[in-house]
Amino acid sequence: MAAPTHADVSDLAGRVVLITGATRGIGLGVARHLGTLGVRVGVTGRKPERVEETAVTLSDVGVDHIARALDVRDGDGTVEMVGAMHERWGRVDGLVANAQSFRPVTPLADVSADDMDLLFDTGPKGTLWSMQAVVPFMRERRWGRIVTMGTALGLTGAAGYGPYAASNEAIRSLTRTAANEWGRDGITVNCVLPASARHRLNPDADADRKAVFDAMYAEHPLGRDGDPEDDIAPVVAFLLSDASRYVTGQTVGVDGGGIMRA
Ligand SMILES: NC(=O)c1ccc[n+]([C@@H]2O[C@H](COP(=O)([O-])OP(=O)(O)OC[C@H]3O[C@@H](n4cnc5c(N)ncnc54)[C@H](OP(=O)(O)O)[C@@H]3O)[C@@H](O)[C@H]2O)c1
Repeated sequence: MAAPTHADVSDLAGRVVLITGATRGIGLGVARHLGTLGVRVGVTGRKPERVEETAVTLSDVGVDHIARALDVRDGDGTVEMVGAMHERWGRVDGLVANAQSFRPVTPLADVSADDMDLLFDTGPKGTLWSMQAVVPFMRERRWGRIVTMGTALGLTGAAGYGPYAASNEAIRSLTRTAANEWGRDGITVNCVLPASARHRLNPDADADRKAVFDAMYAEHPLGRDGDPEDDIAPVVAFLLSDASRYVTGQTVGVDGGGIMRA
């Protein structure tokens, strides 16, 4: 029998990971968490001022990073970003395909072509362009980790979230195809279904809106919202580590069991 290799969850120091949509919420939490583990991160977001704020935040906590304003729809720009990461650090090990734009909650009967285009262009298509940008470098080293983001609303078919839910199910489907196509290159691809929504609640929201938000957790098994850095990011880190090397094509709920309410 071969000697045990002790695949490790703490092997992340020195790795290089692109996180799209990392200027707030889950992406920022993932960037901060990975940074504290010694990962060198490329971070993107749409709004230049938020990208600058993120760069300052990461510098303050000593995270080696490249921050760039980049729309996830821009495939050529993503190739350039990943090229810059490779030029600076000599490797690209991971991708967290996290960016996606949203539209207000809308009944299916009123969904427009623009709504569908925005969700699909920034969801599955943006995820695919990001995957295509990192995979050549991962193939070179025969090692790579890709984590995509989906939503439990895609599984439950939540009313009002049609384009968002459908686009996220397309991301889960791409995740499985990518896992099949790139497994022999040493690349694993998995999808996380997170729940961490408090950062999306406007602090000035009225009492009714806050009550709706709190009610979401009334029957939630763990009874609370997830924290981007302390609840979601550690599972993403596991999926980016060597310890997850026999996990691919999977969907992992990181939602405190919230989906069981459905
Ligand atoms: N939060 C949840 O509970 C939850 C549940 C299920 C799934 N998810 C998924 O998890 C991911 C992150 O969610 P979140 O709540 O953290 O989102 P969020 O708070 O809305 O943050 C989205 C991030 O992505 C960036 N972004 C948005 N559109 C972009 C685009 N077209 N190109 C590049 N960057 C873009 C934003 O940058 P700007 O600020 O510059 O726009 C921001 O940094 C999303 O894919 C979402 O679908 C979240």
